Amino acid sequence: MKERVEVMLTAEQIDKRLEELAEELYQEFGDEQVEMVCTLKGAVVVTTDLAKKMKMPVTLNFMSVSSYGDSTESSGNINVKMDLDEDISGKNVLIVEDIIDTGRTLKKLKELLLFRKPKKLKIVALLDKPDRRVVDITGDFTGFTIPDAFVVGYGLDYAQRYRNLPYVGVLNFDEE
Ligand code: IMP
Ligand code: MG
Repeated sequence: MKERVEVMLTAEQIDKRLEELAEELYQEFGDEQVEMVCTLKGAVVVTTDLAKKMKMPVTLNFMSVSSYGDSTESSGNINVKMDLDEDISGKNVLIVEDIIDTGRTLKKLKELLLFRKPKKLKIVALLDKPDRRVVDITGDFTGFTIPDAFVVGYGLDYAQRYRNLPYVGVLNFDEE
């Protein structure tokens, strides 16, 4: 099988949308400091690009939670592989996700962080695949709502590859 990536969202489209999201987030948080929580590894690219457009003071924080192995199906089994190194109680927290698929990862993460009593907890996701949802959760801010397809690039991987693509594309498998 030969892998082929078909462009879905160009780098320019993503950049423009992030500009708008930064504005929406400014409406939400104003000049108050925001602790951005990047979910490794997929959200690294959107976190750094979005952070550069944020107008208020922000901090960058990282967490690693897993649900996917090297396949394209979610296991539904989520564990915290790396936790935050700062206390978030009383703070404005913004979870940054690459994509909301079944929603299992995010639901679990949201519950965990709410337990730590932040002042405010919001979720921004670059992509949302609502057709795939199995648990009740939505992002507060969404970049693009996309159909049910397996996408790679701009942080998203297939077997750890393609994260470095500057665009988002659908991964196809062709017969050789
Ligand atoms: P969920 O728990 O099913 O919502 O899984 C969310 C995580 O699965 C995302 O943060 C991604 O890491 C991964 N994922 C879901 N859909 C895709 C996809 O289309 N391409 C690549 N990774 C995906
Ligand atoms: Mg992720």
